[in-house]
Amino acid sequence: MSEKIRVLISEEEIEKRILQMAKDISEFYQREPVHLVSVLKGGVFFTCELAKRLTVPVSIDFMSVSSYGDGTKSSGVVKVIKDLDEAIEGKHVLVVEDIVDSGRTLSYLLDNLKSRKPKSLHLCTLLDKPERRVTDVHVDYTGFEIPDEFVVGYGLDYMQHYRNLPYIGVVELDA
Ligand code: IMP
Ligand code: MG
Repeated sequence: MSEKIRVLISEEEIEKRILQMAKDISEFYQREPVHLVSVLKGGVFFTCELAKRLTVPVSIDFMSVSSYGDGTKSSGVVKVIKDLDEAIEGKHVLVVEDIVDSGRTLSYLLDNLKSRKPKSLHLCTLLDKPERRVTDVHVDYTGFEIPDEFVVGYGLDYMQHYRNLPYIGVVELDA
């Protein structure tokens, strides 16, 4: 079996959208420092591109969570693999994620972060698959809403491959 990647969102489209998101986010924080919580591994590419374009003071930390499931579907049982290095109490926290799918991982993560008493807590995602939502999650900034298709690139992987693609593509399997 081999797979082909069909381009869904080009590099140019993504860059244009991230610039607009960075403007909106910078405007929202009104010169106050924002603490980005980047969700490993998929959120890292988007985090870097967004951070470069923000005009407010930025600090960055990383967190890695995994949800147990059958490989393609998450079960809702989430485990922290790598916690943040720094406390977030009193900070304006913006979680930066690659994609919101069922919403289970983010729902857990946001509850977890909320208990640490940040000054504010918001969520920014490059992609959203609203059709797949199982758990309600409030997304503050969305790059693109996409249909229910498995995508790769810009941090997203298929069995740990394709994260480095500079565009978002759909994996097409042919036997
Ligand atoms: P959720 O808990 O179902 O929202 O899981 C979200 C996580 O599943 C994301 O952070 C991704 O790691 C992964 N994921 C969901 N959809 C895709 C996809 O289309 N391609 C690659 N990874 C995906
Ligand atoms: Mg992710």
